[in-house]
Parts: sequence; C-alpha cells; structure tokens
Amino acid sequence: MRPIAVRRLADEVVTSDVIVVGSGIAGLTAALGLLPRRVTVLTKTTLGGGSSSQWAQGGVAAAMAAGDSPHLHSQDTISAGAGLGQQAVIDTLTHEGPERIRRLIELGARFDRDDDGGFLLGREGAHGRRRILHAGGDATGAVMVRALVTEVRRHPGINLQEQVVVHDLVTSGDRVVGVLARVGDRTVFHRAAAVVLATGGLGQLYARTTNPVEATGDGLAMAARAGAQLVDLEMIQFHPTALEIVQDPVVMQPLPLVTEALRGEGAILVDDQGQRFMLDVHPMAELGPRDVVARAILGRQQAGCRVFLDATQAVGARFPQRFPTVWEHCRNQGIDPRCQPIPVTPAAHYAMAGIAVDGVGRSSLAGLWACGEVSSTGVHGANRLASNSLLEALVFGARVAEDLGSATAPRSVPLSTSADDSEVVWREAGSTSGLELAAASHQIRRMMWDSVGLQRQRTGLETTLEALGHLGRNLPPQPSKARNLMTLGRLVTAAALAREESRGSHFRSDFPSSQKRFEHRFFWTYRPGTAASWRTADEFPLVATRPLVNTREIA
Ligand code: SIN
Repeated sequence: MRPIAVRRLADEVVTSDVIVVGSGIAGLTAALGLLPRRVTVLTKTTLGGGSSSQWAQGGVAAAMAAGDSPHLHSQDTISAGAGLGQQAVIDTLTHEGPERIRRLIELGARFDRDDDGGFLLGREGAHGRRRILHAGGDATGAVMVRALVTEVRRHPGINLQEQVVVHDLVTSGDRVVGVLARVGDRTVFHRAAAVVLATGGLGQLYARTTNPVEATGDGLAMAARAGAQLVDLEMIQFHPTALEIVQDPVVMQPLPLVTEALRGEGAILVDDQGQRFMLDVHPMAELGPRDVVARAILGRQQAGCRVFLDATQAVGARFPQRFPTVWEHCRNQGIDPRCQPIPVTPAAHYAMAGIAVDGVGRSSLAGLWACGEVSSTGVHGANRLASNSLLEALVFGARVAEDLGSATAPRSVPLSTSADDSEVVWREAGSTSGLELAAASHQIRRMMWDSVGLQRQRTGLETTLEALGHLGRNLPPQPSKARNLMTLGRLVTAAALAREESRGSHFRSDFPSSQKRFEHRFFWTYRPGTAASWRTADEFPLVATRPLVNTREIA
C-alpha cells in the first residue's frame, strides 16, 4: 500500500485526545465516559439520529427481576451463540449490565413499569424468562438514546460534529492516528491518540433490512482497509418479522420492524392458508431461535405462501398503547393489527460480524478501539440473543472509555491513509453519477440477499464473490457507499464460503449440519484490491489469521 500525504488531502487539521465515530448508544456512552478528555464525536447525521440504537423496539435484556440472575442470562446467551459465544465476555455483559442500566435511569431514561413500580418485563425468543426492559412501549432505543444525547449536550467539552462523513482511518506505521472526514466540500483530518469506531451495523448490504439507511457498514469497511483483524464475518442475523411492504427497487429503504416482543406476548405466525406452521418446526414455536423462525418463514415464502403475524387475540385492542411504533407503521400501510394479521418477511437485522476486539474494545491495531455493532466482542457468537445488543453497547461503550482513561493527543507523526491506491485519487476525480452508484448498490444488495442471505450454498457464493470483484473494478474511485458495500459484500461472502457447515445464523444448504471441527471463530484480515477472480488462494479477499485479540481473559 502506497503511503499518502494526508496533509495534501486535508483542508484542515483538528486535534483531539480521542475521536468517537458514531452516535448511537455505544458511541455516546463511550464519549461520556471519556470526559474530561478532549473528545470529538463525529456523526453522519444528527446526534443519535440514524443509528440502529434509535430504532430498537424490543428492548434491553438484563437480569433485573427477582428469580433471575446474570448466570441464567449468560446461559441463554451462550446457548443462542451456537458454540461461538465467548464465556468471559458474556459474563462481563450479564454481570455489569444491570448497573449500566441503573446509571442510564439516573440520566433520565424511563423504562416502563407496572402499577407497583416494578419493571414491566417482556419475553423474547430463546430467553428462558421475562427479562426484557422496554420503554415507551416499543420505543426503547429512542428513549435510551434521548437520555444519552441530553447528557452529552450538557457537556460543552465534547466537540460534537454532525453531518460529517468519515471516509478512512489515518495510520502512522501500524498505529491509527486519526480519520479523514468530509464536511460539505471540505476534507478534515481529525487526529487523536485514539479512534473509537462506534459506527453501527451493515444491514444495508442486503435488499431487505430493518436497519436505517445509514447502516452501510462504513466503520467495518475502513477498519478492514486499515488491516484490522476481523471476525465472524459470515454471521449476519436475519430478523424473522419485518413488515412486508412494497419496496422501491433502488432506494435503500428499510422495512419497518415488527418487534419480537409481539411474539413474546403470544402473537402467532400463520401462512395464507391460516396454518400455524411453527408448532411443527420448533418446541418453542414462535419463540424459537431467530434463525430457525426466519428460515421457516422463508420456506413458506419459497412454497408460494405469504406469512402473517397474528396479534389479534394476544394483543388486540391494547395494540396502539403497547406497541405504538409498530401500530404507526401498520397504519401507514392501511393495516389495523387489532383485527388484521400483519404481513411479515425476514430481513437482515444485525451483524455479529465485526472488528475483532477484546473485553475492553481494543482492536488488533494500536490506537483503534471499537464498540457496539461494528465490533465483535464474542458476546453474540453465531446468533445474537434478542435484546442483548443495546446492553452490549452500554457495557462495552463504558469499558472502552475506562480503558482509554489516559489517552492524550499524539505528537506530530508521519501519516498515511489506509485507503487503497484507487481510493485516494478521489479528491482529484470528477463528480460521480449518483445514479450509477445507486444502481451498483442496488445490484450488490440484491445479490447479497439472493445468495448470501438466510440460505447459502457454494455455487451462489462463488458466483457472488466473482461478480463483486468485477463490479468493484468498474466502480468509480471515490469513496462511496457502493465501494463500502462492495468491500463488505466480499468480506461476508468469502467468510461464508469458508465455513462449510451450518451454525447459528449461517446456514449452508450444501452443509446443513454443524461440524465439531468448525466450532471456533474465524479471524481474518482483508486483502484489499478487487481482483475480478479469486480462484487462487492469493486472490481470495481474506487472509486467515490467528486471534490477535483475546476475549478469554477480561482485562
Ligand atoms: C425486536 O424488537 O424484535 C428486536 C430486538 C432485538 O433485535 O434485539
């Protein structure tokens, strides 16, 4: 990789002690914990807006009820993770979680309570008991984000930069020393002793997703280009029940989530013949593991049926009060869920895939930390337990901040961007047709949904990997969503090709069962460039590496 004269690219240099990229629950929690250091928060929309946290409906899981315990929560998390969950980080999550939630309550987050003042706890798939806190009915993420945003705005010491698009990490030797960001038509080099990526997920890699349009996996793509170690790349969770709406074929339009909490309240899945099919599929029926429920729905769809979630008996007239967000989405589509079943479809929902980090969020690169969905702590294994992600964002956002306690701004150092050669000419390149990029993104998202979605097999994966390579070579050189999606598509597809078994959310129809020899996580580094063919090991976009971060021992 050719070193790039960053100063030539940047119109301005801004120095901080720590840069946090992203403003969901993980990023905001980290930023608050970092005070009184000089912290800069960069976010591509407005603070808290456009994050998946903001959209989270179901809630946050924590052992807060009498009779529940962190140990029981750990057990459910481990078994959902299908052999890849890391016990030590999971125990950290479940033991530190309740205290983190109490701190958020002190900041003003109000979780729903019963008449006696106790938490109203919901149940979701694969949880052994009711332990899901919710707020505003099904507006849990929004309530949590609001409390954090209010607190962050109270601290003028935090430098908040909204509407800023971060394109790449900047490195000096093996150390990350900042980011290159675009603000309007200006390029800013933000430099700092530490960069915390809290950029969220990559749901927009798929034609069907519950994630906001901002969830384009930028953080994972830039960490990959910088050479950070990545892990569990094949593990993408598909939510069984997104609202089935007619999608604009080009616009990256999310499908509204129909929260699993509805099934927790007793709503049932039926096909268009009225048959309740989950009873024959799993002993926990609609509350079976997400991958099982999602694939059962897909199976019905492939057989030519539509699938509906029927909450008319279980929730009925209480719907507008108990599930105001889903109610609103249904009403926008002309559906009255009090008396009509809701049409649903699976959709990409959460990436267990991410930047490999240890128990305090350190990546394999000096100067780079990550928390929230862009990271992979090992908590979720091959299948995230519902409502564990907001908890993970709170717990590990705070842990990153504690670990970074003493970071101070770096002295002047030689710098380079991590962008590959084709990407660094973007500043000089002419304007790119938005339509062309939108068409490329659409093509990538369609391919990923069709061949690297809920059901995968060798031929489809191989064809997709080739096609992504060709497409990448023809993409314009400027940093763009399409380039990031192409990079991520190659990462996920290559890892899915390598895992010749089925486990958790990763299902290979040509290897339908789990294999003992694959009961471990795959750690990788990205081989940049977009070879149109990967037929030799030298052209495969991923290089297997032994784990450089250690999630077995918690610092
Ligand atoms: C849901 O409300 O169904 C989503 C909860 C989650 O993904 O954790």
